[in-house]
Amino acid sequence: MALSFKKIADEKLQPDSFEFNKENKKKAIEIMKNYPQNYVESSIMPLLTLAQEQFGGWIPKKAMEHISQFLNVSEMKVLELATFYSMYNLSPIAENHIEICTTTPCMLRGAEEILEKCKKKLNLEVGEYNENKKFSLIEVECLGACVNAPVAKIGNHYYEDLDEDSINIMLDNLEDGKK
Ligand code: FES
Repeated sequence: MALSFKKIADEKLQPDSFEFNKENKKKAIEIMKNYPQNYVESSIMPLLTLAQEQFGGWIPKKAMEHISQFLNVSEMKVLELATFYSMYNLSPIAENHIEICTTTPCMLRGAEEILEKCKKKLNLEVGEYNENKKFSLIEVECLGACVNAPVAKIGNHYYEDLDEDSINIMLDNLEDGKK
């Protein structure tokens, strides 16, 4: 199924409401204490991460509204950050969301071949997930681990120094439900 994970999900996928659960509300308050009171916007990104984790890997519109109200900042500020950074998904992702870095250091070390391998093996194009929602694939900018290029991120884990053989084994393991 073709889609963009940065595109705000269809209305039919959007929940009627969202608010942080008890545990995340506590975490959100602790996060806010990390920043001076006049820099409340600094908490937007960690709160987006919390919302994404709570909602199963993507951020619905109601979560952005909730963060804006929680921090008393404009919805536009929340939306700007949520749409800019590749780590925030605004549409549902698959169980294994594969992010392949194709920025220059990774590209020079074979990222394009790795991306092609993923596309072929999973029968997916970039921005798609498969029927059973087992895999979704996306191409991203620098993941900040260039020293061990080429790099992929799956869920919250980094996989570094990849080559076609290691990505092949990794995809087989994920298909079999191993990490
Ligand atoms: Fe790929 Fe930095 S260029 S991790």
